Amino acid sequence: MNYELRTANSLLGKSALVTGGAKRIGRAIALALAGAGADVTITFRGSGDEAVETVDAIEQLGRRGFALECNVRSQQSVRHAVASTVAEHGRLDILVNNAAIFESADLDQITLEQWDAIFETNTRGPFLFAREAIPHLRATRGRIINMGSLGGLHPWADHGHYCSSKAAVHMLTKCMAKAFGPEVAVNAVAPGWIDMDAEPTEQTRRMVTKTPLRRTGTPQDIAAAVLYFASSASFITGQIMPVDGGLGL
Ligand SMILES: NC(=O)c1ccc[n+]([C@@H]2O[C@H](COP(=O)([O-])OP(=O)(O)OC[C@H]3O[C@@H](n4cnc5c(N)ncnc54)[C@H](OP(=O)(O)O)[C@@H]3O)[C@@H](O)[C@H]2O)c1
Repeated sequence: MNYELRTANSLLGKSALVTGGAKRIGRAIALALAGAGADVTITFRGSGDEAVETVDAIEQLGRRGFALECNVRSQQSVRHAVASTVAEHGRLDILVNNAAIFESADLDQITLEQWDAIFETNTRGPFLFAREAIPHLRATRGRIINMGSLGGLHPWADHGHYCSSKAAVHMLTKCMAKAFGPEVAVNAVAPGWIDMDAEPTEQTRRMVTKTPLRRTGTPQDIAAAVLYFASSASFITGQIMPVDGGLGL
């Protein structure tokens, strides 16, 4: 069956919230959810201009878009984002915890500030958003989709704090699935090497040779997996789905 037809309008009347949704993978997720019929709120921190463009693109798909400034490291800011989303769209059905930071650092050189920044953003952020959103999601029998990483499944020596934060997101996904059922299903998507550079770098070329499907991933590949967890009449919860072309095998 044609994928677009199968998902078209499957989220009609639903309200989705995508953190860090102004650009890159978050934007692709926001547009995929809007394309399937959902009204979409995106949060941004520094990317205000891109957020305006993404809201515009959501509205061109015939859905209501809404952008909010939010720092996922601040409990107060997360609280405000969830409350504003519900005030604007009347309900909340889908939470996508996408906002994150990534950096390279030698494990024995990582500072306390670097470690805390990664965990406060990548791990505590999804926890805070889920904790605020859960009463609304229970009311709608909603879904949470966390963005994990292949780096949370496989150790990368020069990204030790990032990998640990994403491994924690994977475990948090499983804990949430047990805690938030039966009303709310919780799953994670673990992207592999997603290429968003204008020209492939040497490292990207190396990754392609290691990937059974012989290409890098696109933001749309990730958005399709998120859309699956958001829209399918699913009996699946607590699962981590790698979307990596087989790179992790
Ligand atoms: N790209 C990859 O190859 C890859 C691979 C594996 C996993 N992932 C995961 O997939 C997701 C999306 O990847 P990406 O590369 O598109 O992400 P990204 O560009 O690195 O970050 C997404 C957004 O997170 C927001 N953000 C960062 N810190 C924040 C904070 N303290 N408060 C609020 N928002 C904050 C930023 O918003 P502003 O721009 O508005 O500041 C940014 O646009 C992430 O969870 C990432 O870890 C990506």
